[in-house]
Order: sequence, then C-alpha cells, then structure tokens
Amino acid sequence: MRSNFLSRVHRGIKRRIMRLLNKPVPLYFSIAADITNDCNIRCPFCFSTFGAPRVNMTPDHFVKALSLTPLVAEGMFLISCAFEPTIHPEFNSMLDLISPHLGSRAILSTNLLAPDPDTIHRLAELPIHHLNVSVDSLEAQSYESLRRGGRFERFEENLHRLCDCRKISSRPVPMFGISVVTRRNRPFLKDMGYRLADLGFVLHEVRDLFLDSATPARWKSDSILTDEDWDGLMEELSDASPILQITPPLRLFERYAGHPRLNPYQLKYIQTGVGLRIEPEGRVLVQGTDRVYHLSDIDDPLAFFTREYPSLARIVAP
Ligand SMILES: C[S@@+](CC[C@H](N)C(=O)[O-])C[C@H]1O[C@@H](n2cnc3c(N)ncnc32)[C@H](O)[C@@H]1O
Ligand code: SF4
Repeated sequence: MRSNFLSRVHRGIKRRIMRLLNKPVPLYFSIAADITNDCNIRCPFCFSTFGAPRVNMTPDHFVKALSLTPLVAEGMFLISCAFEPTIHPEFNSMLDLISPHLGSRAILSTNLLAPDPDTIHRLAELPIHHLNVSVDSLEAQSYESLRRGGRFERFEENLHRLCDCRKISSRPVPMFGISVVTRRNRPFLKDMGYRLADLGFVLHEVRDLFLDSATPARWKSDSILTDEDWDGLMEELSDASPILQITPPLRLFERYAGHPRLNPYQLKYIQTGVGLRIEPEGRVLVQGTDRVYHLSDIDDPLAFFTREYPSLARIVAP
C-alpha cells in the first residue's frame, strides 16, 4: 500500500517537473500494438501462442492506435510485440500511415523473412525510433534450429538488401539486432557483434530467454545456459564489440554489476507504470488489470486515454 502511494507521489512530482520543463509527459509506461496474431515461422522459444483464426488490424484501427504514441517515451510504442507484422496483407500501406511525428516514439520488430524487396526498401527508411531485426545467428544450421521454419539463405538475402537500402538512403532507420542466448548460437555471439556493426547495426542485444511451462522440457534442457555457462559467456563477451549489450537472467543481474557490456536499459523494461496492449481486432487491454476497451468505441483515443490515465494509475500496481 505504502509503496503504491509513494510511487503515485513520485509519478505526480515527475509529471509536474516535466511540465515545468515544457517537455511532453509520457503518461504510459508502454503501448504494445500487434497488427496481426500470427507468424510465418515457429521459433521453439517464442512466448506467443498461435492457432487462433488469423485477425489483421484494419488501417482505421492502426491510425487510432498510432495516435497514442505521444503518451509514451521514445521507443516505448511497439508496432509489433508478440507476432510478425510483415505478414499483414496490407503491410506496405500500413507503413505509409506512420508519419515522422508519430513514428519517433515507435519501434517495429521483424524476423525479416517475409518482406519482398519493395517492403524492405520501405523498412530501410521507416521514420521510427528504431527497427528491431531478430537475428539469433549468422550461421545457417544454428539459425534454422532457432528460427524454426525460416531459411537462413532468405534471411541473409533480406538482411543484405536492407543494409544496402540503408546505405543509399538519406534518412536510414536505426537498426537494432536481437539474439536470444542458447547453447546453439552461443559460440557465434561474440563474432556476430562485429559482423552486425559492419552491416550498420547500432546495437545488438543478446538476451536471456524467459520461458514458461509451454516450452518443451527437452528443448529447455538442450538449449538453456546454466548459471556457470552464463559466467563463462559474460567473461568471454567482456571485450566484445561495443554495439553488444547483454541482458542476462534477472537473478544474475547483481552478480554482473559493472560488466562493460551489461544492458543499461534492462531495468527500464521492468514495468513501472501503466501499460496498454492493443490486439489486432482493436481490443485495448490494460496490463495487470481486467480493464478492456475497444478502439471502435473511441473516437479520439489520445484524449480518451489521457483522461483515463489517473484512474488506471490507481488500479495498476507499481
Ligand atoms: C515475439 S517477437 C515478435 C516480432 C518478430 N516476430 C520477431 O521475431 O522479431 C519479438 C522479439 O521477442 C523475442 N522473443 C521471443 N520469445 C522470447 C522469449 N521467450 N524470451 C525472450 N525473447 C523472446 C524474439 O526473438 C524477438 O526478437
Ligand atoms: S518470428 Fe517472432 S513471433 Fe514468430 S515465432 Fe519467432 S519470435 Fe515468435
């Protein structure tokens, strides 16, 4: 109770200071909007659940969702969170709806396996905060065992096309790479940092997996690093490429304090405020609560969710 109260006071003071500094106040911690509920591949570690009939967000709902970007800090509006956005049948025209003003706080994550050359050209210049490319490995066998159903040859071709398009663009999108850490790709992680830096990536996040009981026990025992493995990896990566940032298991975070490649933003991702999740059908869920809204019922989402914020902040645990 007391920490709830203190946290509200803290947020209130922060908002007042930001207003005094005349800065826009990011009311919400994050907004995650998935434009589809499916994926073209099946990574064995993926936290998403598949199998429901395919639903794709309408452009009308996408415009409404995007109007909420002023409510979050830079990089905290996720255009895709749990599924693969590029398989949306109107993906290219959805991209055209992202203005530099609305896009500056947004990020988009992709496995880069589905887009055709035209889409890749658009991604290379997308006016967003950054584009996340899930890499996992630059070696064919381990890539295909982790990105199950994806062909490495296709990924490599698209990756090089994206990088070539960025090179000749006057406003290239900043590219971040993401690789999950498993025994399968571990031998390649250090080298990947250098190779991705050469390709123009500004960051390569090497992250621990968070897995639940849905992941087969056999896969976990074959793939997951022990704490001793993590100690070895952290040691090995201490002089890795400067673009590499490691997100180790949270339980080991203290142990690696001061490590030169520790992801400084890791703690930022632990939710400390109100988060919204927008589903492809337009339902808006308030994370950590059973509150649900629908974009079809809301004419002006920005005004609506600005008004709703104080009541939501009261019901969400800090
Ligand atoms: C769920 S995917 C959605 C976007 C897109 N399909 C992709 O793979 O980039 C977003 C990111 O979450 C990562 N991810 C998926 N399952 C994970 C897990 N269990 N633990 C940590 N990261 C995970 C993926 O590797 C990917 O980089
Ligand atoms: S590509 Fe992304 S959404 Fe698809 S299975 Fe892999 S991690 Fe999950």
